[in-house]
Amino acid sequence: MNNDTLLINKKSWDVVAPRFYGRTALPEYGPFAPEETKLNLFENVSGKKILDIGCGSGHSLKYMNDNGAAELWGLDLSHSQISAAKELLKDAKVQLFQSPMELDPGLPHAYFDVVYSIFALGWTTNLEQTLKNVYQYLKPGGTFIFSWEHPLFSRIQNTEDGLLFNKSYHEEGPYDHQAWNHPAIMQQYKVSTYINSLVDTGFKIVKMVEDVRINEELINRDHNRWYNRPKVESVPTTIIIKCEKL
Ligand SMILES: C[S@@+](CC[C@H](N)C(=O)[O-])C[C@H]1O[C@@H](n2cnc3c(N)ncnc32)[C@H](O)[C@@H]1O
Repeated sequence: MNNDTLLINKKSWDVVAPRFYGRTALPEYGPFAPEETKLNLFENVSGKKILDIGCGSGHSLKYMNDNGAAELWGLDLSHSQISAAKELLKDAKVQLFQSPMELDPGLPHAYFDVVYSIFALGWTTNLEQTLKNVYQYLKPGGTFIFSWEHPLFSRIQNTEDGLLFNKSYHEEGPYDHQAWNHPAIMQQYKVSTYINSLVDTGFKIVKMVEDVRINEELINRDHNRWYNRPKVESVPTTIIIKCEKL
């Protein structure tokens, strides 16, 4: 775990939180990714104990509440995000923790039917420890689902000469995130690193999704310099992985 990085990222998320209010949340897995309503990876969450890692403004937890989940729990690094989630879920029974995902803030072990993370897991400064934590929170046979930006997507740029690799795929580790006006440090992992870390932690991989969903409505809503049409049509935007605790 890198405390300096976590401090920088917490400060950044505390400021930018309103810009991301409800922006990446279930039933959406990510920009231009197929939705849960089509994929049905969670199947029936009614009566289930659910934990959201990097719950942000709480919109995915609200989706779980609307679908009958029995218990809602969430954690997030950012104080602003946890405050927003508390407000959004004020009428629901929910337990929220302001904590980095790299640390266990005292969550029950072998307790949850489902743990998930929507566009948050890739922020971790310690993937192995974070996956170990998730594994401990789950009941045997429990499900872990996460989505994150596809590792190819951030390495490719659309230019006048076509799509170009602007960074080696082999390179992993921290890098400065330039897109905000506030410093933030992101992590880069390869697809194989996610897969092998899950397997080494003891998970069985059930499904991996790399498809994109493109239609005019989404192009009008989400098209920008980063998510531009030629890039989205050629490169997966999002990686979604479903696994089970053995
Ligand atoms: C794109 S938002 C997630 C949106 C959210 N999953 C939803 O459903 O609305 C990414 C979140 O990851 C959180 N985050 C970043 N680094 C983190 C860390 N190390 N531990 C826990 N949360 C982290 C940020 O504070 C932010 O709320």
